Amino acid sequence: MFKSFLALLLCLLVLPAFAADLEPPSLERGEELWGKCRACHSLEPNGRNLVGPRLFGMFGRQAGSVADYRYSEVMKTSGVIWTDANLDAYLAATQDFMPGNKMYGGLAIAQDRADLLFWLKHKLGVK
Ligand code: HEC
Repeated sequence: MFKSFLALLLCLLVLPAFAADLEPPSLERGEELWGKCRACHSLEPNGRNLVGPRLFGMFGRQAGSVADYRYSEVMKTSGVIWTDANLDAYLAATQDFMPGNKMYGGLAIAQDRADLLFWLKHKLGVK
């Protein structure tokens, strides 16, 4: 009980410190960062699956649910929903978030993730 109280206290103290560092997201920078993903992912509604699945419709979708893409077993059965928070955590450290999935890399810098996710939402027409 006391431990969870301490953990909560720590979160309350530390999280705002990180959040406060973020600038308002930039579409321009987000588009630039998409350059790190485009070799493996398409964005069009009927885009081809490349090394990775097409990402059209990814916000709010269940992980591993593009029907004609062959996911790893862990991704397919994870039950994860791609909320903003889960996408952020996945891109921050793909293998920590979902050990054994087939995607490596991602974006270590929080501002980069914020910019990219902002641009992706804009691009995919997600509010
Ligand atoms: C070298 C290829 C590669 C790059 C670069 C890459 N990905 Fe991936 N991505 C994959 C693969 C492969 C998977 C499928 C993972 C699995 O099945 O375990 C995946 C899965 C995903 C998923 C889950 C999709 C779903 O349908 O559940 C998201 C979201 C994602 N990638 C976003 C990104 C973003 C954003 C970037 C750029 C920062 C990126 N990826 C860069 C290969 C890549």
